[in-house]
Amino acid sequence: MKIRSPIVSVLGHVDHGKTTLLDFIRGSTIASKEAGGITQHIGATEIPIETIENICGNFIGKLSIQKDIPGLFFIDTPGHEAFTSLRKRGGALADLAILIVDINEGFKPQTFEALNILKMYKTPFIIAANKIDRIFGWETHKNTSFSKSFSNQAQNTQLNLDKQIYELVGILHKEGFQSERFDRITDFSSQISIIPISAKSGEGIVELLAMLLGLAQEYLTEQLKIEENSPAKGTVLEIKEETGLGVTVDAIIYDGILKKDDEVALMEVGDVLTTKIRSILRPLPLEEMRDSKKKFKKVNEVVAAAGIKIAAPNLDNVISGSPLRVTKDGDHVKEEILREIEDITIHTNENGVMAKADTLGSLEALVNLLQSMDIPIRTAEIGDVSKRDVINASIVQQEDPSHGVIIAFNVKVHPTAQEELDNSEIKLFSGNVIYQITEEYDVWIKEKEK
Ligand code: GTP
Ligand code: MG
Ligand code: NA
Repeated sequence: MKIRSPIVSVLGHVDHGKTTLLDFIRGSTIASKEAGGITQHIGATEIPIETIENICGNFIGKLSIQKDIPGLFFIDTPGHEAFTSLRKRGGALADLAILIVDINEGFKPQTFEALNILKMYKTPFIIAANKIDRIFGWETHKNTSFSKSFSNQAQNTQLNLDKQIYELVGILHKEGFQSERFDRITDFSSQISIIPISAKSGEGIVELLAMLLGLAQEYLTEQLKIEENSPAKGTVLEIKEETGLGVTVDAIIYDGILKKDDEVALMEVGDVLTTKIRSILRPLPLEEMRDSKKKFKKVNEVVAAAGIKIAAPNLDNVISGSPLRVTKDGDHVKEEILREIEDITIHTNENGVMAKADTLGSLEALVNLLQSMDIPIRTAEIGDVSKRDVINASIVQQEDPSHGVIIAFNVKVHPTAQEELDNSEIKLFSGNVIYQITEEYDVWIKEKEK
């Protein structure tokens, strides 16, 4: 019997501070390096219990929380509206969640969306009321607890903060939740804690982490126990070529145990692949899985929850977002994997655009965006722009010039496709910030229709 780390998903509206909060806890600066300033893939970071104890100091002792869990495994999710499927995936993986709200802005569309995801999965959560340093009159006290910083604010500032907190309490009430500022809660089993924080100055993060540990203890004692031999379940985040290793898969293991030499099943374009694990590489604690500079350590097994890199034969065509399962009896798992893949609901149209993206999640996001703009789609595929895409676009162009285009997120253009593009009038809209690509296309159409 082992105890695994709880998976804590961070959810909330775009730019309300999810990545910055994790940056503070890890001591990193990922948020400031993201394309377009937004998160567009699921992130994952393991925070050892020692790090949490260091941040919290004697605060945990005061709450008499047992620390028998190895750490907290945080999942970062995108807040931009297009990424519903990644929020759902992040929400589905969660044992616990932090719903983050910019206290100065209050609930926004994706805050409600995230709340509904938590409701649907019955995930215990806390509210982080972020950016308190922007409350009118607030004097920042770096790295202090909320309680200490709050007691040092002018009375008017305290009132300004509380007014915003009670806005949140009111909205949560309408949504069916009783909530209260964490230090005024009388009954933790019926009230949701609101913890005022600043992801930038670190104020309140001590209390936030302590409350998470408290929630874990309260709700998860049984859920976190795993058997020595329970086969691993996971989700593929990314496929990457690594020197010396070949094509590798970055994945989150959210249940069970994964061992070197295990046979695993994964989804690849059009099929399910089974392959034997050659090596398991584990990033050092506090490293964000999305960070391309992260460092790894070779291990013989991992217990959930963990983010890992896997080297194995034939990973070339695996799809990001694919489930990962240890197989004991291949066929059974195959069906399970096929069932698990949420269908991307596209009503394909002969005279639609060619959509390309790098992962299952981002393709879904791109399709969502295009559909919300009433743009018909002819094909939606994962992978680089191919010659066939250009040819397809040419066919559409003859009938319908404004839809004979390629819209590509985070992918390369194959050399033969580039050649074809150079010799034709086909427009390619591409880039690494999803909504900028569709905006560019929109501008182009409007210009054309003038
Ligand atoms: P998405 O992943 O795109 O949904 O955004 P996010 O929720 O991860 O927000 P992110 O961490 O990218 O922060 C958005 C902006 O808010 C950045 O410019 C941050 O520096 C800023 N920010 C985040 N937290 C705070 C805070 O506590 N105080 C202040 N003043 N700014 C903050
Ligand atoms: Mg982010
Ligand atoms: Na952002």
